[in-house]
Amino acid sequence: MAKPILVANWKNHPSSPEEAKKLLKELSKKRKLFKKTTLFIAPPFTYFESVSERITGFGRLAAQNISSLPPGNYTGQVTPDILKNFGVRLCILGHSERRGFGETSEHIAKKVKAALRSGIAPLVCIGEKERDAEGEHFEFLREQLKSSLAGLNAKAAAKTAIAYEPVWAIGKSAKDAINLTELSQTVIFIKKVLADLFGRKTAEAIAILYGGSVEPDNANELMRNSGIRGFLVGHASLDAKSFNAIAESLSKT
Ligand code: 13P
Repeated sequence: MAKPILVANWKNHPSSPEEAKKLLKELSKKRKLFKKTTLFIAPPFTYFESVSERITGFGRLAAQNISSLPPGNYTGQVTPDILKNFGVRLCILGHSERRGFGETSEHIAKKVKAALRSGIAPLVCIGEKERDAEGEHFEFLREQLKSSLAGLNAKAAAKTAIAYEPVWAIGKSAKDAINLTELSQTVIFIKKVLADLFGRKTAEAIAILYGGSVEPDNANELMRNSGIRGFLVGHASLDAKSFNAIAESLSKT
């Protein structure tokens, strides 16, 4: 069985290099535990060097975003070639916070292709803003998946991973996050859409992660029989004790 996947999305935290180093020092004390998972840390670009130096042997660097442009002169853009040459092998794409700035699934589809061309695996985020009793949110998820992965053939799609992050569950606490039944149903739905788009075999190869208020209190339950392969963790990844506890839950599955 493949190791469970654990992705830390630091977003725009911590606010100083000293704090980032302190957090990394705490995490490295649990390197044996993290080795039982496939760990990625996605810090702000300014901490890339510091993180990559300190996670060697138990974790890998991931990006929170990528430019869809090829190498060239584009002020302010970080192109896939630069990230690839720095050792980045995974990139979070289409996070709801970026979609909130106006990034569309069409932009994301371009970035997915650009990442794949550079040998970087895209972790494509999808998630509804709210759930409704009629199940309208399932159609929303189908559309997000279809358009964010548009233009890929099955071989390329097999190199992507999906992060299901319901927007309503982000940045809260374990008790306000999704429950196991809701998560399991949604994962079955996502697998079905992927199978319709790319065939059953490819759909099975695509890892589905969950993100949205994953904390030590719900990590165990959400991982159990939900069909996910791991977590994309926000705020709890900035607290070494919480993040270690989440890794502990994953390592037992
Ligand atoms: P929280 O874990 O803080 O809810 O954030 C989830 C997230 O957005 C990770 O990408």
